[in-house]
Amino acid sequence: MKKLLCFAHRGASGHEPENTLSAVKRAVELGADWIEVDVYAVEGELLVIHDDRLERTTNGTGYVMERTLAYLRSLDAGKGQRIPTLREVFECVDRRVGVNVELKGPDTAYPAVTLINEYTCDYGWSYNQFIVSSFNRRQLRRVKIMNPDIRTGVVVDGIRRRYTRFARKHGLFSVHPRVDLVDAKFIQRARELGLKIFVFTVNTSQEIARLERLGVDGIFTDFPELIAGR
Ligand code: G3P
Ligand code: MG
Repeated sequence: MKKLLCFAHRGASGHEPENTLSAVKRAVELGADWIEVDVYAVEGELLVIHDDRLERTTNGTGYVMERTLAYLRSLDAGKGQRIPTLREVFECVDRRVGVNVELKGPDTAYPAVTLINEYTCDYGWSYNQFIVSSFNRRQLRRVKIMNPDIRTGVVVDGIRRRYTRFARKHGLFSVHPRVDLVDAKFIQRARELGLKIFVFTVNTSQEIARLERLGVDGIFTDFPELIAGR
């Protein structure tokens, strides 16, 4: 059977505060193949955080996009960790595993492509160590226009299920469906389009086994040891 790729969802977020450097480090230690992080652009800097508001994961308040970079960087994102920049995540990973950058905020495509180009041109990374994904198809289109060598993946949830026309038109690498959308028909359609299938978010061995039988390529999990440790 082919190797099932393990994507550490927001880092090893089942063990450490999500989207922090300690979650990234832990994911690498646990043997993840990829780290997935969510990003917003603030004052030209990509910050790693999932929600558009600060309350759930930090000691701050308000919307991420309405705060200054200095304020955001002063916050505690759990266990004394700061909200990391994407650059810090790249440094921490140091080419040991791949990085899936999920564009969450507006206007994230340009800074993400710029940073990936920098790490590819100057620091020895290769394009196949990155995947840029998003629910936001406009951001994905921009990535492809700026640099067709960067692999892109469309995130598919319950609201926006239809992606096939978009995938065909924009030369996507992968589709990232929510777990409950995945069945044999979904797999067949994605295969016809030549897409890799990476499923989120799966935290039980039973569900991982079901998806592996279906033939998916990778799984996002908060507990990388469930896949990497087998
Ligand atoms: O990219 C897969 C997954 O991370 C998408 O959902 O909300 O956890 O970012 P979310
Ligand atoms: Mg995500």
